[in-house]
Amino acid sequence: MGVHECKIIELPKMEDDRGSLSFVESDSHIPFDLQRIYYLYNISEGASRGAHGHKKLQQLVIAMSGHFTIEVDDGGDKKIFHLDKPNLGLYVCPMIWRHLYDFSPDAVCVVLASLHYDESDYYRNYEDFMKDVKKQ
Ligand code: TYD
Repeated sequence: MGVHECKIIELPKMEDDRGSLSFVESDSHIPFDLQRIYYLYNISEGASRGAHGHKKLQQLVIAMSGHFTIEVDDGGDKKIFHLDKPNLGLYVCPMIWRHLYDFSPDAVCVVLASLHYDESDYYRNYEDFMKDVKKQ
């Protein structure tokens, strides 16, 4: 596992003169079974989110509206992605420290997640994250 596994997934986009429609199916467009959706919105100017890691959680992060930047870090390598289209999602595998920033005022960040919310799956502290990275 590492940042090389964090990739942009292009979702289907059905377009006609009424507009666009995209969709996501578990285990088909995303490599996990979807158990939770959450979203960030009304994001304050200059605010950043994330700055944590997950032990087991897999996610697909989508800029449903507006745009923002996400940095992924596996404790060795880092990658930066700019998300700005509702039919593009960033797949984030387990054991990745992530940081979301540079949100546009209209940004809505939707996250599809493989597990229910569980605080014990989080690394809230970068040092704790690095300790487990080094053990692997
Ligand atoms: P958190 O994951 O820390 O978001 P961020 O890193 O972007 O600030 O979540 C913020 C708060 O929301 C935290 O108290 C946990 C709570 N929360 C839930 O209760 N359920 C969820 O599904 C999520 C994602 C967060």
